[in-house]
Amino acid sequence: MKNKIIEILLSNIGQPLSGETLSQQLGISRAAVWKHMKNLRSEGCNISAVNNRGYTLLSMPDSIHPEFFNALFSGRRQLHYFDNLLSTNDKAKELAKEGCPSGTLVIADTQTGGKGRLGRSWVSVPGKGVWMSIVLRPRMHPSQMHKITIIGALAAVQTITVLTGLPVKIKWPNDIMINGKKVCGILCEMSADMDEVDYLVMGIGLNANLDSEDFPEELKKIATSLKIESGCPVSRLELASSIANRVCEIMNFLEETGDFSSVVKEYKNYEITGRVRAFGSGRDVTGLAEGIDEDGALVLLTDKGDRLHIISGEISVRSIEGE
Ligand code: BTN
Repeated sequence: MKNKIIEILLSNIGQPLSGETLSQQLGISRAAVWKHMKNLRSEGCNISAVNNRGYTLLSMPDSIHPEFFNALFSGRRQLHYFDNLLSTNDKAKELAKEGCPSGTLVIADTQTGGKGRLGRSWVSVPGKGVWMSIVLRPRMHPSQMHKITIIGALAAVQTITVLTGLPVKIKWPNDIMINGKKVCGILCEMSADMDEVDYLVMGIGLNANLDSEDFPEELKKIATSLKIESGCPVSRLELASSIANRVCEIMNFLEETGDFSSVVKEYKNYEITGRVRAFGSGRDVTGLAEGIDEDGALVLLTDKGDRLHIISGEISVRSIEGE
């Protein structure tokens, strides 16, 4: 019943709904509607009640609990919520191995062993960020998996732009930056054989409402949060559900049409170009990062004049400042 009420309120956000309408739609008395509204308010929903006009949902609480999340998470996909996990990526891989469907989402309020790229750890402050992983079973060749990394970054920047209006950028392949500091990172892990992907887990860590004192000293200069940048808190619920929905939407589009060019076109609106050093896999070169090509590889014009196309995962790319 609670899910149903949240769903109705959400599809009429900002619009008053009379007690009579709600009681008819829900098949309960007006007194029961009133009681549910009282409970939802005590859980952080901002619901106004005006005589003769009814109830209006003004905003949702900053809770990622499943009862709120499910109403926003489209497609009736599986949702696994945990107050505390070692790593949502590890949990998602466990579920994937057990055969969970594509689109399954694992979300935690905090992680005690959050993992970043290149073996780094990821600070996952309780109740202040979006720490989640999406299980995908792409019907694509394993050699195409770097494209999914690009999709994750695009879904994140589009959502952040719509919800906050902040000037968000992507540092290839998938570091999300605001004013030169990292606000969100994506860690994709996959299980595949030569021809087929069994699953890909896309882990997304988004610093939503962290305050500067939440970051360890060594990260203060290079990391930020949406709250620090915009000056006001952002709903983790809306961020998480919109990113997850957008990832699945873009994936469906790509699988149905095979058209990656519109993803590339959109990504290009956010990408950071400029001088970089690229290293790893026996390479160490400097040059100009020109942006991604039609396959999602980074085009790098080296100082020696070669034009390289770099696939994510192979190589690390760092901006070079002051040159
Ligand atoms: C990066 O280093 O930029 C990637 C960071 C990815 C962090 C997220 S938080 C949710 C998911 N679970 C993890 O253990 N890591 C990813």
